[in-house]
Amino acid sequence: MFAAPWIIILLSTTCYSLDNGLAKTPPMGWLSWERFRCNTDCVNDPDNCISEKLFQTMTDLVVADGYATAGYEYINIDDCWLEKHRGHDGKLLADHQRFPNGIRALSDYIHSRGLKFGIYEDYGNFTCAGYPGIIGYEQEDAFQFAEWNVDYVKLDGCYSLPHEMDLGYSKFGKLLNSTGKAMVYSCSWPVYQIYAGIQPNFSAVKTYCNLWRNFDDIQDSWTSVENIIDYYGNNQDLIAPNAGPGHWNDPDMLIIGNFGLSYEQAKTQFAIWSILAAPLLMSVDLRTIRPQFKRILQNRKIIAVDQDPLGIQGRRIYKHKGIEIWSKPIGPLYNNFYSYAIAFINRRSDGTPSDISVTLKELGLIHFYGYRVEDLYENVDYGVLYPNTKIKVKVNPSGVVMLKGEVQLPNEM
Ligand code: GLA
Repeated sequence: MFAAPWIIILLSTTCYSLDNGLAKTPPMGWLSWERFRCNTDCVNDPDNCISEKLFQTMTDLVVADGYATAGYEYINIDDCWLEKHRGHDGKLLADHQRFPNGIRALSDYIHSRGLKFGIYEDYGNFTCAGYPGIIGYEQEDAFQFAEWNVDYVKLDGCYSLPHEMDLGYSKFGKLLNSTGKAMVYSCSWPVYQIYAGIQPNFSAVKTYCNLWRNFDDIQDSWTSVENIIDYYGNNQDLIAPNAGPGHWNDPDMLIIGNFGLSYEQAKTQFAIWSILAAPLLMSVDLRTIRPQFKRILQNRKIIAVDQDPLGIQGRRIYKHKGIEIWSKPIGPLYNNFYSYAIAFINRRSDGTPSDISVTLKELGLIHFYGYRVEDLYENVDYGVLYPNTKIKVKVNPSGVVMLKGEVQLPNEM
């Protein structure tokens, strides 16, 4: 008799986990916010305002300029796509001037180009920019997204109560699942709780969300990228173990190709984001991006590090006097010995490259038969090196050297 309630509780917690089968590797795509913000002035700035035209243009460029074949697949709207009020029937309405054909038509357009479609909402009374939030309309909105054939939902957390998020975010995740349309679920749940002094329940977060934000919004500056790198390094013991296939930490968008990062800094952002197994969401004007930044975003070898199927988030393994070494275990795996991606970064501001000398063993690469070592930006193959081999890299100020060490099998000696 007394056993029954426990059984019910157990069933209800196990049945309702997200498990939507999505985001087995970190999502890749394009997201409007960092670059295009809440520009709603299509009269004076028709080419840059948040409108169906902007998303169609970016869709076309993601396909035509090789981003799609490099792995970028989601075209995601961020804030400011809505009318200021819901319709009389309570439904969400896209701004009728900026999205004259409606959201389903945009979704169809993106799908017809072979890509996937993401949308933004907020678990609160309003979105961060003051448009209608989902509170009170959770069920209607989840089904509305399914009807619009949405593949990815970013749910922000402005104008809501952080202590209610455990319930609210998990409830909306279940509602998304109940629609029968699989949608990647991007949550801002932990970041708002951290700001409110609440320690997030990460085992719940990773059960319900495919990705989640932990820290500040990225801005168009190296300082902002550095702050994020520091946050992820300083808090890695808490954060890194939560990442894995289907559930990822999200250090926010890639700002590569915009105004604030130099070429070296852009390479560093891409390297560290891939070490972190971060979602790769470009927020950049693909009409005007310079070729050297495009090459960074399309570096297949570094994308492969980010997308490694083992899904292990890497860590900062060394930090001293402005030099940092970050390491991510990746496949192939041999006899429980991983291969590794290693990023050496130079946070110093003296204007000359810094030399870093280290043995493979000191980096944790201890397999007797060695590792084939390759530079992932310079495309140089250093051949097979052994644990006692000392390597020396020269790292430019605010730049990076990124290596991969592929574990060797005995017969490959
Ligand atoms: C918050 C989020 C950002 C962006 C804006 C939109 O600040 O963290 O990523 O979505 O809201 O208003």
